[in-house]
Amino acid sequence: MKLVILGAPGAGKGTQAGLLADRLGIPTISTGNLLRAAMQQGTDLGKQVKEAMDAGKLVSDELIIQLVKERLGQEDCKDGYLLDGFPRTLAQAKALSGFAKIDGALSIEVSDSEIEHRMEGRRICSKCQATYHVEDNPPKVEGICDKCGGQLVIRKDDTHDVVENRLHIYHEETEPVKEYYRQEGLLLAVRGQKKLADTTQLVFDALGISL
Ligand code: AP5
Repeated sequence: MKLVILGAPGAGKGTQAGLLADRLGIPTISTGNLLRAAMQQGTDLGKQVKEAMDAGKLVSDELIIQLVKERLGQEDCKDGYLLDGFPRTLAQAKALSGFAKIDGALSIEVSDSEIEHRMEGRRICSKCQATYHVEDNPPKVEGICDKCGGQLVIRKDDTHDVVENRLHIYHEETEPVKEYYRQEGLLLAVRGQKKLADTTQLVFDALGISL
């Protein structure tokens, strides 16, 4: 399966992508995680994108399209993948159609007020980037990743002002991508629920996959 996962920042794309990837045995390609890893390693790419990412702005289409194109060409993507955080603009969606044949685009719909609550409580693993929420999806041991034992940290772009900026950009730039996939007959929309497990059930049902 080759699936695009759409949704506002904090809608739960990464969380659901992780569960689907485990179930389907295909990789998740998260452009946010690729860029954060580049920043952590201090590569040229990391240096180029740091300012935009810290401010919650999008990095350039040209750069991100090249990054995804290269990543999808790797061996582990040949049987399918989940795209988390790409495409985010109409230009990216059109470029993707030029080099990949997508089976569907799943949109996770969550209100802006719920997003703000989620971002305030989000913690991510500094080693493997797994995602938690202090109330709704806590780790077994406070501050420690269940998967790899890494330390949990607050993402730099999860502050109130930066989240507002990211939501604004989402409505302006990314919502038109949903319409693009609707017109292509590929859009599946799911309403994000208060409980994580309820959203997972709806996502798996929409894709016709058993849990
Ligand atoms: P990216 O990392 O993609 O960030 P994002 O889209 O803003 O999405 P998030 O990772 O913040 O949220 P998510 O939807 O994955 O939610 P999560 O599962 O963590 O991008 C970061 C930056 O990189 C961008 O701002 C931009 O600068 C750059 N970038 C990336 N891709 C780009 C592109 N294509 N073009 C240009 N620039 C790009 O869940 C959130 C929280 O809620 C968690 O704490 C989770 O535990 C909790 N939660 C999840 N589901 C539920 C639920 N149902 N109930 C309760 N809690 C829940």
